[in-house]
Amino acid sequence: MTTTREQAITFAKKNTTRFEENLIALIKIPSVSTDPCAKQAMLLTAEKIMDLLNSIGFVQTDIMPTAGHPVVFGQIQPDRDDIPTLLIYGHYDVQPPDPLDLWKTGPFEPTIIGDRLYGRGSSDMKGQIIASLAAVESILKQGDIPLNIKVLIEGEEEIGSPSLAAFIQEHKELLKCDYILNPDSGLISADLPAITYGLRGLAYFELRFYGPNHDLHSGGFGGAIHNPAQAICEVIAKMHDVNGKVALPGFYDKVINLSDKERIEIARLPIDDEFYKTMTGVNELWGEKGFSANERIGARPTLEINGLLSGFTGIGAKTVLPAIAMAKISMRLVPDQNPEDVYAQLSEFLKTNVPATIRWELISMVGGPPCLTNPDLPETKAMARALETVWGIPPVFKREGGSIPVVADMQKILGVDSVLIGFGMPEDAIHSPNESQHLPTLHRGVESIIHFIYNLIGK
Ligand code: BES
Ligand code: MN
Repeated sequence: MTTTREQAITFAKKNTTRFEENLIALIKIPSVSTDPCAKQAMLLTAEKIMDLLNSIGFVQTDIMPTAGHPVVFGQIQPDRDDIPTLLIYGHYDVQPPDPLDLWKTGPFEPTIIGDRLYGRGSSDMKGQIIASLAAVESILKQGDIPLNIKVLIEGEEEIGSPSLAAFIQEHKELLKCDYILNPDSGLISADLPAITYGLRGLAYFELRFYGPNHDLHSGGFGGAIHNPAQAICEVIAKMHDVNGKVALPGFYDKVINLSDKERIEIARLPIDDEFYKTMTGVNELWGEKGFSANERIGARPTLEINGLLSGFTGIGAKTVLPAIAMAKISMRLVPDQNPEDVYAQLSEFLKTNVPATIRWELISMVGGPPCLTNPDLPETKAMARALETVWGIPPVFKREGGSIPVVADMQKILGVDSVLIGFGMPEDAIHSPNESQHLPTLHRGVESIIHFIYNLIGK
């Protein structure tokens, strides 16, 4: 006799093509949360997801307003006190597709080439949403389960989830749960499953340097006027010391150092410095002295220049001394740093280091705190067993360099840790041109989530 679990897995295996079609339909809608012109596309995406929830058999579904883009909510049965609740998180927004000319296929024209589906959001994270819902559908097809499943799919993760904490606070009762599944992280390679137990936070700024009140002839004025492009480079160059450490006073004060045990664990991850060189095409790695690449990315804070703009950047030559220069600067934070502290540290640094020749302005943009989750929770163990069942080897536990602001929000407001997984991998080129999702891995993901849910309810 086959068990319910086996029947659910069989259902998932038979429906892989339909799951892929659902994903393709979702990628076609350009839900770029940062684009002010995308309001309609955002709503359309939310509606499409709600339709999907309804068709799977969710009984209560809703598109709920926030201060920004709406949230899609659903649950598979009315609230009951006698059974536990699993909340599944997702974000239906995506990063902007540019630079457009580097895409080999249209970012919103999903295309399957070999084992991969190309398109913006295929991996981060429309693919992961579809995988989660495919798993829930496969289970619901087998009848009722002694678990309530709620989903919360937001539209603002890629801009730092600015409205979500207030939304969770306001709907605390509705979102009450015992476990949270967050499939917005990833694995290391197609043949090695992973569970993430730490994420870095983010603090993102725009720095503007103002020099003369209009662009000047660089011959007529150069030499007597401080060029803001030069000045911003001079100041930025002081932001790191010779050992690759961030030079803002106080920056490392709250950083929790890696324990010896963690360093040993991280050293066992099957990716090394060579991997990062091959993956990125650089000749040499760079970073904070005394730490491996995995440690630098997962467990140490950074300061990055994300963009620089000044003067003439068109074709040809123009002799100009620009009036302004601008830099986008962000910091990845680790526990117990927070965005407010590093804003104050950067402002202080600028007060001390920007020369009197320049007027400056620092604008705080996206942000979110770092977090660590408890790797010993029963739900994490249920996930570890599920991944081992599907892959045949136990997952590695890793700290991720990216950020998912909601994880700390949910810890704080709902008091529940998230099980962080995902079925994307480093070569998916998320946030980059030619983003793609490895489809066989996504289908393994569906099976893993099915096993996870049955493990949770002990069936
Ligand atoms: N899914 C990513 C986070 C991620 C990246 C997890 C790589 C695991 C591996 C998420 O959608 C993301 O990109 N978040 C932004 C958040 C920011 C705008 C606050 C990020 O990390 O840049
Ligand atoms: Mn992302």
